[in-house]
Amino acid sequence: MSAMYPELAGKVAIVTGAGRRHGLGAAMAARLAVEGCAVAIIDLGQPMGENFPAGAIGASEEMQAVVDEIVTGGGNARAFACDMRLAAQIEAVVDAVAAHFGRVDILVNNAGIGYLMKPIIELSMDEWDAVLGVNLRGVFAATQAVAKRLIAQGQGGRIVNIASQAAKSGFPFAAAYCASKHGLVGLTRVAAIELGKHQITVNAICPNHVTTGLGAWQNEYFSKALGLTLDQYMAAMRGRIPLGRPGLVTDTANACAYLCSNQAAYITGEAMNVSGGEEYH
Ligand SMILES: NC(=O)c1ccc[n+]([C@@H]2O[C@H](COP(=O)([O-])OP(=O)(O)OC[C@H]3O[C@@H](n4cnc5c(N)ncnc54)[C@H](O)[C@@H]3O)[C@@H](O)[C@H]2O)c1
Repeated sequence: MSAMYPELAGKVAIVTGAGRRHGLGAAMAARLAVEGCAVAIIDLGQPMGENFPAGAIGASEEMQAVVDEIVTGGGNARAFACDMRLAAQIEAVVDAVAAHFGRVDILVNNAGIGYLMKPIIELSMDEWDAVLGVNLRGVFAATQAVAKRLIAQGQGGRIVNIASQAAKSGFPFAAAYCASKHGLVGLTRVAAIELGKHQITVNAICPNHVTTGLGAWQNEYFSKALGLTLDQYMAAMRGRIPLGRPGLVTDTANACAYLCSNQAAYITGEAMNVSGGEEYH
């Protein structure tokens, strides 16, 4: 892949939740690095309690592997650990990124958890808070910290929020996840209105299923919950998608690079489906 948007060369991008090698965040970070951005790879860095177990989150070795892959490809990246539930840590990490790379131009709010899935009558408040804490509260805190810096820099900027098909439709066992992603689209629209006068665009991307680490976990979970084999579940999914396949991390990375480019300078407040036609409202 070669660069498509020369205006992105030299920009500094923060991508949250980018510390898993096959994740959407890593793919967007890699794509922005190809475009010439310096990229801050933000992730949790270590497991934290039962809601953030090893294997489900980006640990420091995997974060470094994402950085190494970008650097090996000729890009500029560095890993920063941060718990996206904690506003003080988010403010500190935005300061650290700006101190290291000199500025911040782009924020991609990608960190999210989608593995705490249970029927409403079984979901605990603790689990609800964990999902909302990362997927919505964390995005608010990061948007606030980065927006202040972008306004002070006075040269505009880009905020891209990774929502989901679950921001447009309901899914069983996903009350907290769907509520957080629907809320994220609301936050996107308000931020677009408030930050527009500073030439900061704010958009959401709504991917359908992508078989990342999280996506693979969801396939196992939903196929079992529906009494289907994994093959039957995936075949049914393909059948619902007009373009006949689930999403790829590169589909979302392409949309992200476009929204960060000058080609999307007049697009803000959107919640763009990247779903092969499965979602269209
Ligand atoms: N995979 C899909 O099918 C799909 C579809 C639509 C939207 N999404 C969204 O895309 C985003 C990325 O998902 P993915 O599929 O690449 O999964 P992923 O698990 O690979 O990525 C999510 C990342 O968020 C990080 N994270 C979780 N809690 C955190 C915390 N407290 N602080 C910092 N980082 C934290 C994880 O460590 C992980 O690296 C998520 O917001 C997800 O909801 C995924």
